[in-house]
Amino acid sequence: PADVPLSGRRVLVTAGGTREDLDPVRFLGNRSSGKQGFALASAAKQLGASVHLIAAHVEVELPTGLDTVTRVSSARELREATLVAAQGADVVIMAAAVADFRPADYADFKIKKTDDPGQDPVIHLVRNPDILRELVEHRSANREAGPQLIVGFAAETGDESASPLDYGRAKLARKGCDYLAVNTVSATQGFGTEVNTLTILSANGVEPLVTQGTKYEVSEDLLRHLAQHLNN
Ligand code: C5P
Repeated sequence: PADVPLSGRRVLVTAGGTREDLDPVRFLGNRSSGKQGFALASAAKQLGASVHLIAAHVEVELPTGLDTVTRVSSARELREATLVAAQGADVVIMAAAVADFRPADYADFKIKKTDDPGQDPVIHLVRNPDILRELVEHRSANREAGPQLIVGFAAETGDESASPLDYGRAKLARKGCDYLAVNTVSATQGFGTEVNTLTILSANGVEPLVTQGTKYEVSEDLLRHLAQHLNN
C-alpha cells in the first residue's frame, strides 16, 4: 500500500519571514529563509495531503506540486490569508517568522535625512496580532468535524536562567496550540541552515518527540506524528 498517512487531509503551512514597511523603500524584516516551511509543505504533499502554502519573504525557490500557493508580505497580510485558509484545514502549521512588531506609522515618501542630527527619526513600534493565538481562538468556528491540529514553531536560544525547552513549554501553554516544534537556534542550526533538530512538545502531555536531520526529514517525522494523532 502507498505510504500516504495524510491522504484526504488538508494541510495549511505558513513559511518565510514577514516584512513591515517603514516607507516605500525600507522595511523591518528577519532572517527566515523559508526552508523549514517549504520542507513541511513538500513533505505533507508527499504524504498524501492537499497542501496550501502561504509564503512570506523567502530566500529559496518555492516548492512545486502543491495545491495552492499564496504570497504575502506583512504580518497583517499573512494573518488575513491564514485565517481564511485555516477554515476547513485539518492541520495548520505556523512555520512563518512573523514580526512581533511593526512601525506605528508608514511614511508615504522615503524618509529623508536632514542636516540636523537632532532631527533623526525615532521608529515607534506597535504590536502585530498573534496569528497562532487567533487560530486557536477561532478553531471551534473553523471546523465542525474532528479536531483541527494547530502547530506552532519556536526558535529559542535560552539564556542563563532557563533552557530552550522550558521556554518552549511556557510558550506552548501561552499560545494554546496542540504542538510546538522547538528548534534551538545556534550558529550551526536554525535560520538558513540545511539541518535542524526539532523537539516537538505536545499539549496532551505525551513525551516530547526529538527529531534531527535535514529540514525535510524532520518535517516528515513531525507530519507522521500528526497523522497518527489525526488517524487515531
Ligand atoms: O512568540 P513567538 O514569535 O516565538 O512564537 C512563534 C510562533 O508563533 C510561530 O509559530 C509563529 O509563526 C507564531 N506567531 C504568530 N503571530 C505572531 C508571532 C508569532 O502566529 N505575531
